[in-house]
Amino acid sequence: MQSGLQSTERTGSGGLFTVGNPITHWSVRAVKQVDYEVRLEEGLLDLGNRAIIEDVADGDHARRLVVVDSVVEELYGARIRAYFEHHGVECRVLVLEDGEPAKDLRQVQEVIKSLDGFGIDRRREPVIAIGGGVLMDIVGFAASIYRRATPWIRIPTTLIGLVDAGVGAKTGVNNDGHKNRVGTYFPADRTLLDRTFLATLDERHISNGLAEILKIALIKDERLFGLLEEHGARLLAERLQSPPDGAADAAVEVVERAIHGMLEELQPNLWEKVLERVVDYGHSFSPVIEMHALPELLHGEAVAIDMALTTVIAEQRGLVTSEERRRVLSVMTGLGLPSWHELCTPKLLVPALRDTVRHRDGQQRLPLPQGIGSAVFVNDLTENELESASQLLADLHWGDAR
Ligand SMILES: NC(=O)c1ccc[n+]([C@@H]2O[C@H](COP(=O)([O-])OP(=O)(O)OC[C@H]3O[C@@H](n4cnc5c(N)ncnc54)[C@H](O)[C@@H]3O)[C@@H](O)[C@H]2O)c1
Repeated sequence: MQSGLQSTERTGSGGLFTVGNPITHWSVRAVKQVDYEVRLEEGLLDLGNRAIIEDVADGDHARRLVVVDSVVEELYGARIRAYFEHHGVECRVLVLEDGEPAKDLRQVQEVIKSLDGFGIDRRREPVIAIGGGVLMDIVGFAASIYRRATPWIRIPTTLIGLVDAGVGAKTGVNNDGHKNRVGTYFPADRTLLDRTFLATLDERHISNGLAEILKIALIKDERLFGLLEEHGARLLAERLQSPPDGAADAAVEVVERAIHGMLEELQPNLWEKVLERVVDYGHSFSPVIEMHALPELLHGEAVAIDMALTTVIAEQRGLVTSEERRRVLSVMTGLGLPSWHELCTPKLLVPALRDTVRHRDGQQRLPLPQGIGSAVFVNDLTENELESASQLLADLHWGDAR
């Protein structure tokens, strides 16, 4: 697309405004280039690792505003301060409340107040966000609206952060009871991914992130599915850390493939103009399931239930064999994920589909798995199909079917 300004044609001499022939219409077109870096690192807070402050020249009096949530503060606050002190970088740490219920505009205001109080120099002092998806979404949103754009660096500390929230372009917070209702597209300049943070994450939040990895496996990466099938339970137990005995480290390939697959899908459609997105797999019914089950289900758990249901729908359409469906549900169990919930009935699923159609510009654009590692979009799912699929899923859950 070319940048340029076009107006209604002048016919007056010398291109000057001619009485009786005014210009009344201008079209402005501009292209904004977006570049950002996502990089795997190990031991980011080790004193010898300069990745966080690599843009600081030796001898500079540098300053950074670092934003964390209260849990990250408790676990890593002392190391973060020691890191900056060691490198002679003045650092102020803002601590936000942790968790989804605190993901709101109040916290965005807190960040903005701190940016003002710190007197940030937008050209030289990127804000640094260290935390999970909630923290990064808040800080990214604040950075995007503060003086219309303030650069930031993202350091995810959860698995959802590492493979999903930390790699795309979206920011946002909940508002008025609606999830991520206000937000922007504003990727961090640099994202540093360090899986050693996962060592302190509880197992349920590891499963939560593994759901998004399984999504990538199911829609586009059969090898990734195989890795999860073979090593999933161990990866969960080891929190994706290197095995202590020096054995082969499947976590490296799993994380790498998940991020690569995610970015491959996001990059050509960063502003989500194309509504048929395979990465929406698992996200057709889950928003409504998640909302109705709150606070019982985490996001990834609701996504897993959606994937189980759509796998059964695909099986009923002959897109997935019974053996493939069995393998998918068994991998979910191995990853500590649910594959059924009592809310999974037509009473909720039919309005959930209607809601999704509204968000997808009037069409279902429903991604369904085709075998393992590939997906197709359908627009003709019927209520009868939903009913029989949810019944079959319930039977499978309660052991009435094979
Ligand atoms: N912007 C995007 O593209 C995008 C994509 C996916 C998800 N998200 C958002 O991400 C959020 C979910 O992210 P999440 O699952 O990371 O939740 P989260 O940020 O709430 O983190 C989960 C919990 O783990 C704690 N925690 C963080 N790091 C830890 C660590 N290393 N050790 C121990 N505990 C730690 C947090 O304090 C929190 O209590 C949702 O709000 C979702 O909307 C955004």
